[in-house]
Amino acid sequence: MTTEPAADPTGLADRALPRDVTGLLDGLTTTRAIRRYRDEPVAAEALRAMVFAATRAPSGSNRQPFRFLVLTDGPKAREAKALVGAAARDAWNAKRVADRYDEGSGADAASPKARVARSMQRYVDEFERVPVLVLPCLERYRDANPLEGASVYPACQNLLLAARALGYGGVLTLWHALVDRELRALLDIPDRAAIAATITIGRPVGRHGPVRRRPLDELVFEERWGRPAPWAVDPPGTRHTAAGPPRGAA
Ligand SMILES: Cc1cc2nc3c(=O)[nH]c(=O)nc-3n(C[C@H](O)[C@H](O)[C@H](O)COP(=O)(O)O)c2cc1C
Repeated sequence: MTTEPAADPTGLADRALPRDVTGLLDGLTTTRAIRRYRDEPVAAEALRAMVFAATRAPSGSNRQPFRFLVLTDGPKAREAKALVGAAARDAWNAKRVADRYDEGSGADAASPKARVARSMQRYVDEFERVPVLVLPCLERYRDANPLEGASVYPACQNLLLAARALGYGGVLTLWHALVDRELRALLDIPDRAAIAATITIGRPVGRHGPVRRRPLDELVFEERWGRPAPWAVDPPGTRHTAAGPPRGAA
């Protein structure tokens, strides 16, 4: 347990949270995975708001087992970014080949597949320069179990949504798992804490199109599995994608 007192050199303890740039429902429905960031630090005031929002998330019995290890520009942060960056490059290079990102429509530079590949490549190539790396952790109070993530992932999503609310962007990956042992040793993460995600955050670069998902009637059922709900229809202007397994796949 950390017992260091939380000093307040920033004076933030006397300041309210900043105003958000988007309404709640608008933010929820337009937040994209942001992988490219401006080369600028995230202000402490914004970071404070993000982790405050994250820690307002629900958890079983309100035990709040989530912990957020925030890595910006200190020596350990640089080492952690380098560790995750190297692992991410290996993982992406293997996926690029295994999932044939450069074949079929991927050979056309203008195709969505090629765009995704470029975005992923740049993300991993520049990983060391992400302004903020957050490692959300779950501090266990009982044996590991398959449902325990339910008490940490809502907080992760709150963090990403708060970033968006303040004009920042981020993305969640699981790349920490590739270097879990090394990160634990570097950052003094105790055995009772599980690293749950790798989140990067910064000011977005470039334009980001609309969120695309499958049509609502493929994702929402009523009464029984597979029966669409008549009220679950996409609002006007909804953009779709067929990404993911084909409909009806086992
Ligand atoms: C469990 C999980 C794992 C993910 N892993 C990766 C990853 O390894 N690399 C990456 O760039 N994005 C990763 N993402 C982000 C997803 O690719 C992204 O949320 C999804 O494609 C939707 O993107 P969009 O909201 O911009 O449409 C992951 C997201 C989740 C929830």
